[in-house]
Amino acid sequence: MSIGREAASVDAVAALRQLTARRVRREPMSHIMGEREFWGLTFHVSADVLTPRPDSETLIEAALTCLPDRDRAWRILDLGLGSGCLLAALLTEFPRATGVGVEASQVARTLALRNLARHGLEGRARIDARDWSQSGWTDGLGGPFDLIVSNPPYIPTAAIAGLMPEVALWEPRPALDGGADGLSAYRALAPALVGLLAPAGWGLFEGGEGQAIEIEGICASAGLSPAGRWLDLGGITRVIGARQETVGKTAV
Ligand SMILES: C[S@@+](CC[C@H](N)C(=O)[O-])C[C@H]1O[C@@H](n2cnc3c(N)ncnc32)[C@H](O)[C@@H]1O
Repeated sequence: MSIGREAASVDAVAALRQLTARRVRREPMSHIMGEREFWGLTFHVSADVLTPRPDSETLIEAALTCLPDRDRAWRILDLGLGSGCLLAALLTEFPRATGVGVEASQVARTLALRNLARHGLEGRARIDARDWSQSGWTDGLGGPFDLIVSNPPYIPTAAIAGLMPEVALWEPRPALDGGADGLSAYRALAPALVGLLAPAGWGLFEGGEGQAIEIEGICASAGLSPAGRWLDLGGITRVIGARQETVGKTAV
């Protein structure tokens, strides 16, 4: 038997041609494969959710420095759940923690539930259909939370068309579009954190390159204290920390 020298079947060649055509149209490999790794875990991915990014692992690194005790029953909130990659990574790192994920998109919520179940975490997580652009969106959410993470949409609307085609053409618009200046989600979320964070809790926002000062300003205007910055592997400030003002004053 000559391994590797058999003729490919007609079906296999047709399948390969189809996959290649998808990639030629600049469809991301994550959509074609249906999976992407994040924080050492594998997640189902589709065109309905943002493909998890290595940059977002900075949020998990930051969380581990903010909450060094891995064995506490921390209460975690993820605003903009998407594939569920952040919440799943955090619940894996904090084995006694429980989490709530907020997501407006129903298809994303369904996929996130599959991903949480894939990693045996569905028993410690609740997924809520909520839209933070609606008034009263935090009613009944629960809390207070020890850790609130969010990787909200933060690309300025006009910049989306100029992104690489894999992103501009294939990633879901609600995962990208941060409004005219890219910051509209932070303006909605920061004031809510004041009521949702535990007194010593941590809020961690992912942001885009060059947005840190403005995100910190939005947090300060909402009554939170900016509480640290974390760089991604490219040296870009990727995560901005915020805490209740009273904690910030005590820490200074
Ligand atoms: C940038 S993606 C992040 C997804 C995931 N957390 C990650 O890090 O890969 C932002 C998510 O927020 C959701 N989202 C956008 N606007 C929202 C809103 N007003 N209310 C609730 N979720 C929203 C989007 O559907 C999307 O899944």
